[in-house]
Amino acid sequence: TQARTYTVDLIAGDGIGQEVVPAATRVVDALADRHGFRVAWRERQWGSAYFFEHGRMMPVDGIEILSDGDAILLGAVGHPELPDHETLWGLLIPIRREFLQYINLRPVRVLPGVVSPLRGVDDLDIVVVRENVEGEYSAVGGRVYRGAAEEFALQEAVFTRTGVTRVARYAAELAASRSGSLTSATKSNGIIHSMPFWDEVVSSVVEDYDGVELKSVLVDALAAALVLRPHDFDVIVASNLFGDILSDLIAALAGSIGIAPSANINPPRDHPSMFEPIHGSAPDIAGKGIANPTGQLWSASLMLDHLGEPAAAAGLMSAIDEVMAAGIRTADLGGSAGTEDFTAAVLRAVASS
Ligand code: NAI
Ligand code: MG
Repeated sequence: TQARTYTVDLIAGDGIGQEVVPAATRVVDALADRHGFRVAWRERQWGSAYFFEHGRMMPVDGIEILSDGDAILLGAVGHPELPDHETLWGLLIPIRREFLQYINLRPVRVLPGVVSPLRGVDDLDIVVVRENVEGEYSAVGGRVYRGAAEEFALQEAVFTRTGVTRVARYAAELAASRSGSLTSATKSNGIIHSMPFWDEVVSSVVEDYDGVELKSVLVDALAAALVLRPHDFDVIVASNLFGDILSDLIAALAGSIGIAPSANINPPRDHPSMFEPIHGSAPDIAGKGIANPTGQLWSASLMLDHLGEPAAAAGLMSAIDEVMAAGIRTADLGGSAGTEDFTAAVLRAVASS
């Protein structure tokens, strides 16, 4: 019989993306062998190098090219000689929006042997569910009278009933499958139209879920509480901007930005979903072979889960846990292992599982 086959577009992108993405494909291929499936990788040489040659981050029909794949595994984009809004709005944001990847899932856990910058935190386990296609990140608005004293900038936030309902439902389902605790990040005291609307829609959605307890917390107080009492939180649902900020804060609590993964999910599966570490292209360490591949590997594990290979996904996480617990760590975690040493250790752990 034919092995299950998944078609995955690979965008290694810029900087350390070129180092951590190959680590992930080797580990996924090893897991595929053991679990009886195959991944057909389609490598896309897109990103800043493509930009310097063609004046854009990906081909004009880039979205169409990706549309028949099962998933996208992305490294990072960003180059010191290009403005960051060009690289972001030229590749990442169009993919998220065109493929309606309206959930940005960001799980955070303190891995074995990793020391949190917070005292007494060694068992943090939080998932941020961030709205990923509307909210404060919008192209609606403009700048008028550039350079004049009368100049102004207007930036509209867009919150729709459909958009808030679907992210709240996703978060409530996730909370129901975990501890039942759901925290909604709000700012309905200061932002008087969109945030009361967010609160109303979220609470009416969550009413349908027995066993899910919703707390709405003002985002400024929530930032403080996450540092002071991180164990009080399990699943957090937040708008695009609040989710972006909170998830970086929570990832930092877990020790290094090099660890944290993310999934950009299109839940109805009408389009491919995209999996990427939360870190960027790290030009300061690119080309040195010292990048931590864990965020990329964990993202690949989220991808395997999404593709319907939960055993391989769990196998990948146990291999990472085992290697971390054995004290093999990259420089960002105070160790001396290079990207290759760490990856080789993960491959050995997969082979002996
Ligand atoms: P960054 O995440 O690339 O780096 C921040 C710091 O963390 C650096 O000191 C870096 O060396 C370190 N770091 C990051 N990932 C690491 C890893 N895997 N192992 C070890 N150390 C790691 O963020 P920065 O410097 O703000 O941005 C650099 C470029 O990346 C910019 O052009 C930015 O726009 C882009 N960027 C792209 C993202 C994406 O593609 N999703 C996300 C964030 C930034
Ligand atoms: Mg961010």
